[in-house]
Amino acid sequence: MAEEEGKAVRFGPYVLTGRLGEGGMCHVFRAYREETGEEVALKLLKEDQRQDEKVVDLFVTEADLSLMLRHPNLIRTLDAGAHNERHYIAMEIIEGANLREIEVQCQRIGVPMPPDFALYFVREMLEGLGALHDAAARSGRPLGLVHRDVTPSNVFVAWDGRVVVGDFGIAHIMAYGDADPGQAVGKVGYLSPEVVLGVGLDRRSDLFAVGIILWELLTGERLFKRDRDDDAMLAIADAIVPRPRKLKPGMHRGLEEVVLKSLARKRAERYQDAQEMIAALDPFWSQEIGHPIAIQSFLAGLFRDEVARFRTRRTNPPPRAKPKSGNYEPITLGPLPDDP
Ligand SMILES: Nc1ncnc2c1ncn2[C@@H]1O[C@H](COP(=O)(O)OP(=O)(O)O)[C@@H](O)[C@H]1O
Ligand SMILES: [Mg+2]
Repeated sequence: MAEEEGKAVRFGPYVLTGRLGEGGMCHVFRAYREETGEEVALKLLKEDQRQDEKVVDLFVTEADLSLMLRHPNLIRTLDAGAHNERHYIAMEIIEGANLREIEVQCQRIGVPMPPDFALYFVREMLEGLGALHDAAARSGRPLGLVHRDVTPSNVFVAWDGRVVVGDFGIAHIMAYGDADPGQAVGKVGYLSPEVVLGVGLDRRSDLFAVGIILWELLTGERLFKRDRDDDAMLAIADAIVPRPRKLKPGMHRGLEEVVLKSLARKRAERYQDAQEMIAALDPFWSQEIGHPIAIQSFLAGLFRDEVARFRTRRTNPPPRAKPKSGNYEPITLGPLPDDP
Protein backbone atom coordinates (compact mmCIF):
# COMPACT_ATOMS: atom_id res chain seq x y z
CA MET A 1 0.00 0.00 0.00
CA ALA A 2 1.02 3.55 -0.55
CA GLU A 3 1.63 4.18 3.12
CA GLU A 4 4.43 1.66 3.41
CA GLU A 5 7.77 3.08 4.26
CA GLY A 6 10.02 3.34 1.24
CA LYS A 7 7.23 3.06 -1.32
CA ALA A 8 6.94 6.81 -1.73
CA VAL A 9 9.14 8.63 -4.20
CA ARG A 10 10.53 12.11 -3.87
CA PHE A 11 10.23 14.42 -6.85
CA GLY A 12 11.52 17.94 -6.27
CA PRO A 13 9.31 19.54 -3.61
CA TYR A 14 6.78 16.70 -3.83
CA VAL A 15 6.48 13.16 -2.52
CA LEU A 16 4.58 10.75 -4.76
CA THR A 17 2.51 8.17 -2.92
CA GLY A 18 0.27 6.51 -5.51
CA ARG A 19 -1.33 6.70 -8.92
CA LEU A 20 -4.53 8.55 -9.73
CA GLY A 21 -4.82 7.85 -13.42
CA GLU A 22 -3.25 8.09 -16.80
CA GLY A 23 -4.05 9.44 -20.23
CA GLY A 24 -2.39 9.16 -23.60
CA MET A 25 0.64 11.22 -22.69
CA CYS A 26 0.74 11.57 -18.95
CA HIS A 27 0.71 9.81 -15.64
CA VAL A 28 -1.15 11.48 -12.81
CA PHE A 29 0.06 10.71 -9.28
CA ARG A 30 -1.23 11.33 -5.81
CA ALA A 31 1.44 13.38 -4.07
CA TYR A 32 1.97 15.85 -1.30
CA ARG A 33 4.14 18.88 -0.92
CA GLU A 34 6.84 17.89 1.53
CA GLU A 35 7.09 21.33 3.10
CA THR A 36 3.41 21.90 3.79
CA GLY A 37 1.83 18.46 3.56
CA GLU A 38 -0.69 19.74 1.01
CA GLU A 39 -2.02 16.92 -1.19
CA VAL A 40 -1.95 17.42 -4.93
CA ALA A 41 -2.44 15.55 -8.17
CA LEU A 42 0.89 15.65 -9.94
CA LYS A 43 0.86 15.30 -13.71
CA LEU A 44 4.05 14.18 -15.45
CA LEU A 45 4.76 13.24 -19.04
CA LYS A 46 5.17 9.53 -19.64
CA GLU A 47 8.74 8.38 -20.02
CA ASP A 48 8.43 7.66 -23.76
CA GLN A 49 6.88 11.07 -24.43
CA ARG A 50 9.57 13.07 -22.72
CA GLN A 51 12.02 13.00 -25.61
CA ASP A 52 9.57 14.52 -28.07
CA GLU A 53 10.13 18.28 -28.15
CA LYS A 54 6.67 18.98 -29.54
CA VAL A 55 5.05 17.05 -26.71
CA VAL A 56 7.13 18.86 -24.12
CA ASP A 57 6.18 22.16 -25.71
CA LEU A 58 2.49 21.27 -25.52
CA PHE A 59 2.89 20.27 -21.89
CA VAL A 60 4.52 23.58 -20.99
CA THR A 61 1.74 25.46 -22.78
CA GLU A 62 -0.80 23.39 -20.84
CA ALA A 63 0.95 24.40 -17.61
CA ASP A 64 1.02 28.13 -18.47
CA LEU A 65 -2.55 28.10 -19.61
CA SER A 66 -3.98 26.15 -16.72
CA LEU A 67 -2.42 28.57 -14.24
CA MET A 68 -4.49 31.35 -15.85
CA LEU A 69 -7.83 29.59 -15.51
CA ARG A 70 -9.90 29.81 -12.38
CA HIS A 71 -13.45 28.56 -12.21
CA PRO A 72 -15.25 26.04 -9.96
CA ASN A 73 -15.90 23.79 -12.98
CA LEU A 74 -12.33 23.83 -14.27
CA ILE A 75 -9.59 21.83 -12.66
CA ARG A 76 -7.50 24.15 -10.55
CA THR A 77 -3.76 24.19 -11.10
CA LEU A 78 -1.72 25.06 -8.04
CA ASP A 79 1.82 25.01 -9.31
CA ALA A 80 3.81 24.08 -12.37
CA GLY A 81 7.47 23.90 -13.16
CA ALA A 82 10.30 21.54 -13.88
CA HIS A 83 12.57 19.43 -11.74
CA ASN A 84 15.65 17.85 -13.26
CA GLU A 85 14.37 18.89 -16.66
CA ARG A 86 11.18 17.04 -16.02
CA HIS A 87 8.11 19.25 -16.27
CA TYR A 88 5.22 18.85 -13.90
CA ILE A 89 1.80 20.30 -13.20
CA ALA A 90 0.42 20.17 -9.66
CA MET A 91 -3.36 20.33 -9.44
CA GLU A 92 -6.04 20.07 -6.81
CA ILE A 93 -6.94 16.41 -6.35
CA ILE A 94 -10.40 15.45 -7.49
CA GLU A 95 -11.40 12.43 -5.41
CA GLY A 96 -13.86 10.76 -7.72
CA ALA A 97 -14.18 9.20 -11.15
CA ASN A 98 -14.15 10.53 -14.67
CA LEU A 99 -17.29 10.37 -16.80
CA ARG A 100 -15.96 7.47 -18.86
CA GLU A 101 -15.40 5.43 -15.71
CA ILE A 102 -18.92 6.28 -14.58
CA GLU A 103 -20.38 5.19 -17.94
CA VAL A 104 -18.46 1.93 -17.84
CA GLN A 105 -19.58 1.23 -14.30
CA CYS A 106 -23.22 1.98 -15.16
CA GLN A 107 -22.99 -0.54 -17.98
CA ARG A 108 -21.25 -3.15 -15.88
CA ILE A 109 -23.84 -3.00 -13.14
CA GLY A 110 -26.67 -2.52 -15.59
CA VAL A 111 -27.98 0.75 -14.16
CA PRO A 112 -28.82 3.37 -16.76
CA MET A 113 -27.79 6.91 -15.91
CA PRO A 114 -30.82 8.93 -14.79
CA PRO A 115 -31.39 11.67 -17.41
CA ASP A 116 -31.45 14.43 -14.79
CA PHE A 117 -27.98 13.37 -13.68
CA ALA A 118 -26.78 13.47 -17.27
CA LEU A 119 -28.19 16.97 -17.65
CA TYR A 120 -26.52 18.08 -14.44
CA PHE A 121 -23.13 16.76 -15.60
CA VAL A 122 -23.47 18.44 -18.96
CA ARG A 123 -24.63 21.78 -17.51
CA GLU A 124 -21.68 21.85 -15.13
CA MET A 125 -19.26 20.99 -17.93
CA LEU A 126 -20.74 23.80 -19.97
CA GLU A 127 -20.25 26.27 -17.11
CA GLY A 128 -16.57 25.36 -17.03
CA LEU A 129 -16.13 25.40 -20.78
CA GLY A 130 -17.92 28.74 -21.05
CA ALA A 131 -15.39 30.21 -18.62
CA LEU A 132 -12.55 28.70 -20.65
CA HIS A 133 -13.94 30.11 -23.90
CA ASP A 134 -14.31 33.56 -22.37
CA ALA A 135 -10.93 33.63 -20.63
CA ALA A 136 -8.95 36.80 -21.20
CA ALA A 137 -5.34 37.78 -20.64
CA ARG A 138 -4.54 40.32 -17.90
CA SER A 139 -4.66 43.05 -20.52
CA GLY A 140 -8.29 42.12 -21.12
CA ARG A 141 -7.51 40.68 -24.52
CA PRO A 142 -9.66 37.58 -25.08
CA LEU A 143 -7.46 34.53 -25.45
CA GLY A 144 -9.82 32.73 -27.76
CA LEU A 145 -9.40 29.39 -26.05
CA VAL A 146 -10.75 26.15 -27.43
CA HIS A 147 -10.31 23.03 -25.30
CA ARG A 148 -10.17 20.63 -28.29
CA ASP A 149 -10.22 17.49 -26.15
CA VAL A 150 -13.68 17.47 -24.59
CA THR A 151 -14.19 13.75 -23.91
CA PRO A 152 -15.74 11.75 -21.06
CA SER A 153 -12.33 10.86 -19.63
CA ASN A 154 -11.43 14.54 -19.32
CA VAL A 155 -14.47 15.37 -17.22
CA PHE A 156 -13.93 14.52 -13.57
CA VAL A 157 -16.75 14.02 -11.08
CA ALA A 158 -15.89 14.22 -7.40
CA TRP A 159 -17.63 11.87 -4.98
CA ASP A 160 -19.56 14.89 -3.67
CA GLY A 161 -20.95 15.55 -7.15
CA ARG A 162 -18.72 18.43 -8.17
CA VAL A 163 -17.91 18.37 -11.87
CA VAL A 164 -14.71 19.76 -13.33
CA VAL A 165 -13.29 19.81 -16.81
CA GLY A 166 -9.59 18.99 -16.92
CA ASP A 167 -6.79 18.14 -19.31
CA PHE A 168 -6.01 21.36 -21.17
CA GLY A 169 -3.23 19.41 -22.91
CA ILE A 170 -4.05 20.43 -26.46
CA ALA A 171 -6.11 23.55 -25.83
CA HIS A 172 -5.79 25.96 -28.69
CA ILE A 173 -5.05 29.63 -28.09
CA MET A 174 -6.51 31.47 -31.06
CA ALA A 175 -5.11 34.80 -29.90
CA TYR A 176 -1.59 33.39 -30.19
CA GLY A 177 -2.27 31.84 -33.55
CA ASP A 178 -0.40 28.71 -32.56
CA ALA A 179 -0.73 25.36 -34.32
CA ASP A 180 -2.71 24.71 -37.44
CA PRO A 181 -6.37 25.03 -36.52
CA GLY A 182 -7.21 22.62 -39.30
CA GLN A 183 -5.24 19.83 -37.71
CA ALA A 184 -7.45 17.04 -36.45
CA VAL A 185 -6.12 16.51 -32.94
CA GLY A 186 -8.17 15.10 -30.09
CA LYS A 187 -9.90 11.79 -29.59
CA VAL A 188 -11.53 10.59 -32.81
CA GLY A 189 -14.96 9.81 -31.38
CA TYR A 190 -15.33 13.38 -30.08
CA LEU A 191 -14.20 15.47 -33.04
CA SER A 192 -16.47 17.88 -34.88
CA PRO A 193 -17.26 17.96 -38.61
CA GLU A 194 -15.20 21.14 -39.12
CA VAL A 195 -12.18 19.60 -37.43
CA VAL A 196 -12.46 16.35 -39.38
CA LEU A 197 -12.76 18.32 -42.63
CA GLY A 198 -9.93 20.65 -41.62
CA VAL A 199 -11.87 23.83 -42.16
CA GLY A 200 -11.06 25.50 -38.86
CA LEU A 201 -12.38 25.33 -35.36
CA ASP A 202 -13.75 27.53 -32.63
CA ARG A 203 -15.66 27.26 -29.35
CA ARG A 204 -18.58 25.68 -31.18
CA SER A 205 -16.37 22.67 -31.93
CA ASP A 206 -16.09 22.07 -28.16
CA LEU A 207 -19.87 22.41 -27.92
CA PHE A 208 -20.29 19.74 -30.59
CA ALA A 209 -18.21 17.42 -28.37
CA VAL A 210 -20.49 18.29 -25.46
CA GLY A 211 -23.40 17.33 -27.72
CA ILE A 212 -21.80 13.93 -28.34
CA ILE A 213 -21.35 13.39 -24.60
CA LEU A 214 -24.95 14.45 -23.97
CA TRP A 215 -26.25 12.06 -26.65
CA GLU A 216 -24.16 9.24 -25.16
CA LEU A 217 -25.12 9.86 -21.53
CA LEU A 218 -28.82 9.97 -22.42
CA THR A 219 -28.82 6.87 -24.63
CA GLY A 220 -26.13 4.78 -22.94
CA GLU A 221 -24.57 4.13 -26.37
CA ARG A 222 -21.51 5.48 -28.20
CA LEU A 223 -22.36 7.88 -31.02
CA PHE A 224 -19.30 7.83 -33.29
CA LYS A 225 -17.61 4.63 -32.23
CA ARG A 226 -16.54 2.59 -35.26
CA ASP A 227 -14.04 -0.22 -35.73
CA ARG A 228 -11.99 2.00 -38.00
CA ASP A 229 -11.11 5.62 -37.28
CA ASP A 230 -11.77 6.51 -40.92
CA ASP A 231 -15.35 5.34 -40.62
CA ALA A 232 -15.81 7.36 -37.46
CA MET A 233 -14.46 10.46 -39.22
CA LEU A 234 -16.81 9.95 -42.15
CA ALA A 235 -19.79 9.66 -39.83
CA ILE A 236 -18.70 12.83 -38.04
CA ALA A 237 -18.09 14.73 -41.28
CA ASP A 238 -21.70 14.08 -42.28
CA ALA A 239 -22.93 14.46 -38.70
CA ILE A 240 -24.86 11.20 -38.92
CA VAL A 241 -26.78 11.32 -35.66
CA PRO A 242 -29.52 8.78 -34.88
CA ARG A 243 -32.48 10.33 -33.12
CA PRO A 244 -32.07 9.66 -29.39
CA ARG A 245 -35.77 8.74 -29.07
CA LYS A 246 -35.16 5.73 -31.31
CA LEU A 247 -33.07 4.35 -28.47
CA LYS A 248 -34.97 5.96 -25.59
CA PRO A 249 -38.60 6.37 -26.66
CA GLY A 250 -39.45 7.89 -23.29
CA MET A 251 -37.25 10.91 -23.85
CA HIS A 252 -38.97 14.28 -24.05
CA ARG A 253 -39.26 15.46 -27.66
CA GLY A 254 -38.03 18.89 -26.70
CA LEU A 255 -34.89 17.44 -25.14
CA GLU A 256 -34.29 15.40 -28.27
CA GLU A 257 -34.44 18.62 -30.29
CA VAL A 258 -31.82 20.19 -28.04
CA VAL A 259 -29.52 17.19 -28.48
CA LEU A 260 -29.94 17.27 -32.26
CA LYS A 261 -29.38 21.02 -32.47
CA SER A 262 -26.16 20.70 -30.47
CA LEU A 263 -25.01 18.16 -33.07
CA ALA A 264 -25.90 20.14 -36.20
CA ARG A 265 -23.34 19.70 -38.95
CA LYS A 266 -23.12 23.44 -39.63
CA ARG A 267 -21.74 25.54 -36.80
CA ALA A 268 -24.22 28.35 -37.46
CA GLU A 269 -27.08 25.95 -36.72
CA ARG A 270 -25.75 24.88 -33.31
CA TYR A 271 -25.83 26.66 -29.97
CA GLN A 272 -23.37 29.50 -30.32
CA ASP A 273 -22.01 29.49 -26.81
CA ALA A 274 -22.11 27.47 -23.60
CA GLN A 275 -24.68 29.69 -21.87
CA GLU A 276 -27.08 29.37 -24.77
CA MET A 277 -26.89 25.59 -24.55
CA ILE A 278 -27.39 25.65 -20.77
CA ALA A 279 -30.51 27.77 -21.21
CA ALA A 280 -31.83 25.29 -23.78
CA LEU A 281 -31.28 22.32 -21.45
CA ASP A 282 -32.72 23.92 -18.33
CA PRO A 283 -36.43 23.32 -19.04
CA PHE A 284 -35.74 19.56 -19.15
CA TRP A 285 -33.62 19.38 -16.04
CA SER A 286 -35.22 18.72 -12.69
CA GLN A 287 -32.95 20.40 -10.21
CA GLU A 288 -34.33 18.37 -7.31
CA ILE A 289 -33.37 15.11 -8.99
CA GLY A 290 -30.22 16.09 -10.83
CA HIS A 291 -28.78 17.43 -7.60
CA PRO A 292 -25.27 16.77 -6.26
CA ILE A 293 -26.72 15.10 -3.14
CA ALA A 294 -28.62 12.53 -5.19
CA ILE A 295 -25.60 12.08 -7.42
CA GLN A 296 -23.44 11.45 -4.37
CA SER A 297 -25.47 8.42 -3.39
CA PHE A 298 -25.64 7.21 -6.98
CA LEU A 299 -21.84 7.32 -7.19
CA ALA A 300 -21.50 5.67 -3.79
CA GLY A 301 -23.63 2.82 -5.12
CA LEU A 302 -21.68 2.49 -8.34
CA PHE A 303 -18.25 2.73 -6.73
CA ARG A 304 -18.80 1.07 -3.35
CA ASP A 305 -15.20 0.12 -2.62
CA GLU A 306 -13.63 3.31 -3.86
CA VAL A 307 -16.02 5.51 -1.93
CA ALA A 308 -15.65 3.43 1.23
CA ARG A 309 -11.87 3.75 1.00
CA PHE A 310 -12.18 7.46 0.40
CA ARG A 311 -14.36 7.87 3.49
CA THR A 312 -12.00 5.88 5.67
CA ARG A 313 -9.09 7.90 4.43
CA ARG A 314 -10.95 11.10 5.20
CA THR A 315 -12.01 10.22 8.76
CA ASN A 316 -8.84 8.38 9.57
CA PRO A 317 -6.01 9.70 7.40
CA PRO A 318 -3.13 7.25 7.06
CA PRO A 319 0.27 8.35 8.28
CA ARG A 320 2.17 10.20 5.60
CA ALA A 321 4.33 7.97 3.49
CA LYS A 322 7.92 8.93 3.97
CA PRO A 323 10.26 8.81 1.02
CA LYS A 324 13.44 6.84 1.47
CA SER A 325 16.10 8.94 3.06
CA GLY A 326 18.23 10.95 0.70
CA ASN A 327 17.10 12.74 -2.37
CA TYR A 328 16.76 9.91 -4.82
CA GLU A 329 14.82 10.46 -7.99
CA PRO A 330 12.33 8.29 -9.75
CA ILE A 331 13.80 7.06 -13.00
CA THR A 332 10.84 5.30 -14.52
CA LEU A 333 8.13 6.11 -12.00
CA GLY A 334 7.22 2.49 -12.49
CA PRO A 335 7.13 0.96 -9.03
CA LEU A 336 4.48 3.18 -7.45
CA PRO A 337 1.41 1.32 -6.20
CA ASP A 338 -2.06 2.07 -7.50
CA ASP A 339 -3.91 4.62 -5.53
CA PRO A 340 -5.41 2.84 -2.50
N1 LIG B 1 -6.56 16.55 -10.57
C1 LIG B 1 -6.84 15.25 -10.65
N2 LIG B 1 -7.34 14.58 -9.60
C2 LIG B 1 -7.63 13.26 -9.69
N3 LIG B 1 -7.46 12.51 -10.80
C3 LIG B 1 -6.96 13.13 -11.89
C4 LIG B 1 -6.62 14.52 -11.89
N4 LIG B 1 -6.14 14.84 -13.11
C5 LIG B 1 -6.17 13.72 -13.84
N5 LIG B 1 -6.67 12.69 -13.12
C6 LIG B 1 -6.87 11.30 -13.61
O1 LIG B 1 -5.84 10.99 -14.55
C7 LIG B 1 -6.39 10.75 -15.86
C8 LIG B 1 -5.47 11.37 -16.91
O2 LIG B 1 -5.35 12.77 -16.73
P1 LIG B 1 -5.33 13.77 -17.95
O3 LIG B 1 -5.12 15.15 -17.44
O4 LIG B 1 -6.55 13.56 -18.78
O5 LIG B 1 -4.02 13.27 -18.75
P2 LIG B 1 -3.71 13.11 -20.33
O6 LIG B 1 -3.32 14.48 -20.79
O7 LIG B 1 -2.55 12.15 -20.42
O8 LIG B 1 -4.95 12.59 -20.98
C9 LIG B 1 -7.78 11.38 -15.81
O9 LIG B 1 -8.69 10.77 -16.69
C10 LIG B 1 -8.19 11.20 -14.36
O10 LIG B 1 -8.75 9.92 -14.15
MG1 LIG C 1 -6.99 13.03 -20.78
